[in-house]
Amino acid sequence: MDDYRSRAQAGAEPGAWDYLEGGAGAERTLAANVAAFQEVTVVPRVLVDVTTVDTAVEVCGARLAAPIGVAPVAYQRLWHPDGEAATAAGAAATGTLMIASMFASARYEEIAEAGGARWLQLYVLRDRAILLDLVARARAAGFTALVVTVDTPRLGDRRRDVRNSFAIPPHAQSQNIDPETMALTGVPITGGSALATHVGATYDPGLRWEDISWLADRTGLPVVLKGILDPSDATRAVDAGAAGIVVSNHGGRQLDGALATLDALPAVAEAVEGRIPVLVDGGVRRGVDVLVCRALGADVVLVGRPPVWGLAAGGAEGVAGVLGGLRAELELAMALTGRPCLADLTPAMVRRPSR
Ligand code: FNR
Repeated sequence: MDDYRSRAQAGAEPGAWDYLEGGAGAERTLAANVAAFQEVTVVPRVLVDVTTVDTAVEVCGARLAAPIGVAPVAYQRLWHPDGEAATAAGAAATGTLMIASMFASARYEEIAEAGGARWLQLYVLRDRAILLDLVARARAAGFTALVVTVDTPRLGDRRRDVRNSFAIPPHAQSQNIDPETMALTGVPITGGSALATHVGATYDPGLRWEDISWLADRTGLPVVLKGILDPSDATRAVDAGAAGIVVSNHGGRQLDGALATLDALPAVAEAVEGRIPVLVDGGVRRGVDVLVCRALGADVVLVGRPPVWGLAAGGAEGVAGVLGGLRAELELAMALTGRPCLADLTPAMVRRPSR
């Protein structure tokens, strides 16, 4: 994965690289996500028959070869001309889940051509008509669930983007939403972030639990809430009719100082009590990280930046390299811990520093 990342950085435009790699504020949470995995250790069992190791899983109706998925990342043509279509092809080739960002730079229909398991992520805009239109298109293109991101009432303070006066260039613009709604994303602001201006003008900061129930009722598709860290919110999500949740701090890009997702996961999973699937993202870089998340209660584990490193380095093949590598590492880690089934992965096998 480090090799993909180095090759990606070498080819990327510096502002686009900072947009990918950066976090909010002093980037404490960004660092904490990765560091949390380095602090845990795993206790293997021996003399278990691991001739066959089974990583297959089903989540909200999506059948996956491994409990791994691509987290939504906007504007992927910033890093490769094939953008999200290539990412979806890489995910399909490895039997993993593709979650397309609402702000994809490829059309949803193009993303669907890869034919793999696919969900669409949405932010709730003030203009609900746009939202319902996107939902209808996504459904027609075979996206089987919606992921509503709930940690972004305003954009986090992404200092790198402010310093770079970052704006989305024309070649990477959203291909799914009318140019008028997206216009502010393309206007560079000296000493400011075009994305923050866009979020301020278009996202609904008044979003509440009632809106989630409304969306679930109106769309008929499973609604997964992304950006849950508090166990009480997890319980409320179940009550509001969410079909799943993603334990996420947006890859350290929203509240700097928010806890690492690995530290949030156990209590959230406990509160959910298996009633709905729990997904997690943030700082996952190795197969053993996926194993640890599964052991601590996650059903499916998402990666955001790593598939983009693969994309930038080698298009669809690079994405498949990253995702297939993670899957192979997970499978090996299951064999070496004497846990041939995902159900064998339990909290008891993980040692974490007390916090
Ligand atoms: C994101 N993320 C994100 N999340 C979301 O719900 N909608 C989006 O459009 C985006 N866009 C986006 C762009 C970029 C460049 C990054 C890096 C991230 C957050 C993403 O889905 C995920 O939560 C994190 O990336 C997970 O952390 P890791 O795996 O990158 O450490």
